[in-house]
Amino acid sequence: MLSEEIKKDFPVINNNDIAYLDSAATSQKPQSVIDAEKEYYETFNSNPHRGAYSLSIKATEAYENAREKVAKFINAENPYQIIFSKNATESLNLVAHSYGLTNIKENDEIVLSIMEHHSNLVPWQFVAKTKNAVLNYMYINDNYELSDEEIESKITSKTKVVGITYISNVTGTINNVKKVIEVAHSNGAVVVLDASQAVSHIKIDVQELDADFVIFSGHKMYAPMGIGVLYGKKELLNKMTPFLMGGDMIEYVYEQDTTFATLPNKFEAGTQNVGAAVGLSKAIDYIESIGFENIKTIENDLRDYAVQSLAKLDFIELYMTPNRENHAGVISFNIKGVHPHDVASILDMNGVCIRSGNHCAQPLMRFLNIDSTCRISFAIYNTKSDIDKLIEALKKTYEKFKMYI
Ligand code: ALA
Repeated sequence: MLSEEIKKDFPVINNNDIAYLDSAATSQKPQSVIDAEKEYYETFNSNPHRGAYSLSIKATEAYENAREKVAKFINAENPYQIIFSKNATESLNLVAHSYGLTNIKENDEIVLSIMEHHSNLVPWQFVAKTKNAVLNYMYINDNYELSDEEIESKITSKTKVVGITYISNVTGTINNVKKVIEVAHSNGAVVVLDASQAVSHIKIDVQELDADFVIFSGHKMYAPMGIGVLYGKKELLNKMTPFLMGGDMIEYVYEQDTTFATLPNKFEAGTQNVGAAVGLSKAIDYIESIGFENIKTIENDLRDYAVQSLAKLDFIELYMTPNRENHAGVISFNIKGVHPHDVASILDMNGVCIRSGNHCAQPLMRFLNIDSTCRISFAIYNTKSDIDKLIEALKKTYEKFKMYI
């Protein structure tokens, strides 16, 4: 019932007769977020940090208020530990370049979970190759989970960096990141936590997690595209060299040398996306107005309903843990013998939007011995009627293809 009300806040869903089940790719935006970004461009668009005139000061205030809002949202110690980027990918590249290239030495180990999105994997391959370091993986068990034994055996005293996704964008597994962080720290390694799939679903408290770096994108949490976040421990961020160089990240520039600005500006070269930051701030207001307890109830109900409904279709193969409490609102499946792109196209003709493919996780697909999957993913605006629409469309798809299977 609550999600029927919530749905009304999302114009894309109301303007199209669709069941939108692809929020892991990008979430839809509530009207309040769209209005906030529009208001910025209509009433105080100007370059922050640069102008002495009131419009620019207003833009600066809005931008810095957004930083404070994000810091409170994830319980960061200081707003200057929040670095804005263009997306999670850029934040992850920043850490790989500015932390990885300096701190990883020959024969050191970088440990990643096999569930990582390419954006928390390819940059570490680059670091490993450049520094002659070793890249090791923590593999999932038959339940699509990382076991404690796997975490304890792969992270060793040689490990310098551990990359882990909070929630897999393919299997929906909620990883035991507390355990990963504890084991990494007891071995002297830092942890790069990709919270992109978690931040709008689970309350993130960076101090409670004791995470070293936490990364996420705005666009998966009801904010506009074009803004990402990097949280880092201040002693780490302070020691790191800038990733991108240019305006606003400097202190003094001489012909042959430059001194750099302090945090957070050191990592924010060039004109930043103030409109998206304003939108992100509103998105956080929106999430907080619903509350994580309600979000959990809505999304867990949907997950259970979807799993039960899909399990009744004997032509479906599911790729997910049977432990419901370790599973988020992301479900991968296949119609046995039918290519996921064909399934997605027919679902689209029936007004159902899902993602199909390898989900930017090719090593995981290879490990699971599959080429690709269909994937549904939920947000707070989804309802059981979206799942019913999906199930009806899947039945029609199967009817179309079954003579060829
Ligand atoms: N990372 C996004 C997804 O999983 C794009 O769909």
